[in-house]
Amino acid sequence: MNPTTTTTRPTVLILGAAGRFGGAATAAFARAGWRVLAQARKPLTALPLGAEALLMPLDDLPALARAAAGTSVVVHALNPVYTRWGTDLLPLAETGMDLAQRLGARFMLPGNVYNFGADMPPLLTEATPPTATTRKGKWRCELEARMQARASQGLRSVVIRAGDFFGSGEGSWLDLAIAKDIAKGKLVYPGPLDRPHAWAYLPDLAQAFMAVASLPSVPGCQHFHFAGHNLTGAELLAAIERVARPLGLLPAGSVKRGGIPWGLMRWLGWAVPIWRELVEMAYLWEVPHALDGHALQTAVGPLPATPLDEALRRSLLAMGATSLAAATPPHPVIPAQAGIHQQHKQPGFPPARE
Ligand SMILES: NC(=O)c1ccc[n+]([C@@H]2O[C@H](COP(=O)([O-])OP(=O)(O)OC[C@H]3O[C@@H](n4cnc5c(N)ncnc54)[C@H](OP(=O)(O)O)[C@@H]3O)[C@@H](O)[C@H]2O)c1
Repeated sequence: MNPTTTTTRPTVLILGAAGRFGGAATAAFARAGWRVLAQARKPLTALPLGAEALLMPLDDLPALARAAAGTSVVVHALNPVYTRWGTDLLPLAETGMDLAQRLGARFMLPGNVYNFGADMPPLLTEATPPTATTRKGKWRCELEARMQARASQGLRSVVIRAGDFFGSGEGSWLDLAIAKDIAKGKLVYPGPLDRPHAWAYLPDLAQAFMAVASLPSVPGCQHFHFAGHNLTGAELLAAIERVARPLGLLPAGSVKRGGIPWGLMRWLGWAVPIWRELVEMAYLWEVPHALDGHALQTAVGPLPATPLDEALRRSLLAMGATSLAAATPPHPVIPAQAGIHQQHKQPGFPPARE
């Protein structure tokens, strides 16, 4: 359903529009001319032209379905806080799929690499078998298996798998740990500096969702991998330094580098649940991994890929450097996402290790 070729604007429902991906998806679909219904459970402070807030809880499905009548795509941008994945992840997904089925809409999920365990190959394609070795990974596999199973009930769905998010307000590894103390001349990296790691610049990932949503829907559950940026820690820290200096974000002198005290966090995980949850996924900083984006490119053609330095410049600016922010932000950062985000509402997001 391509808004540029149809007389009526197609409608997309973004569940969890107050979140990082939810906010970026709201912006991408609105910019592309879709009618965007932005569902949230708290007031959204700013929305792009073409988007309407749908401030409704998720537990009244008939009311939500009435309010979202005519929707052709449901984007499931909901994400329980890490420590509630065991209780909330699957029920929230069931709610999203129920709603999509009621609306006769396609269900789209941002997948992640948790489905692949510590034995994963360095390049992940859509054909790579999921070998989750963690609880959270197994829940993600179960979620996608349920999407697949619902194909027999007529649900059409898509998983677009991506690496770690950055570049849409607060709440990513970039602002919560890696560049948290940039103003003090310090950068942190959670693992060895020579392992390729998958990253997804959110405005670009949101564009990919919009591009796939604009394709005719097909029966069943489709999978696509979003390549994004793939970097070693050394490459990322060097790029941050390269971008930050001219922006005046780094004090003069050499940059100090630190790590994450995984040992301390593992030891105290029983007392600090968010540490326990983060430690479970620490292997992702040790095991080299990249997402193969060829199938996605074949399906939708070339996608906008913001160069790394530009993506970091916008992300570092969005993290609070104001001087140049007013200059030329090509993608409007929706303040809604600038609000406090979930994971780091939890006390004790990883401290940096000297
Ligand atoms: N973060 C990453 O690096 C990454 C990478 C790949 C894939 N993903 C996947 O992308 C999806 C979105 O992740 P994200 O990082 O954008 O999430 P996020 O920023 O944490 O936002 C999640 C949204 O879900 C809402 N929410 C959570 N529990 C809810 C509930 N019980 N009822 C109603 N709303 C609820 C939150 O509302 P409030 O704002 O009101 O709390 C929030 O707006 C998830 O499936 C995630 O696994 C994430």
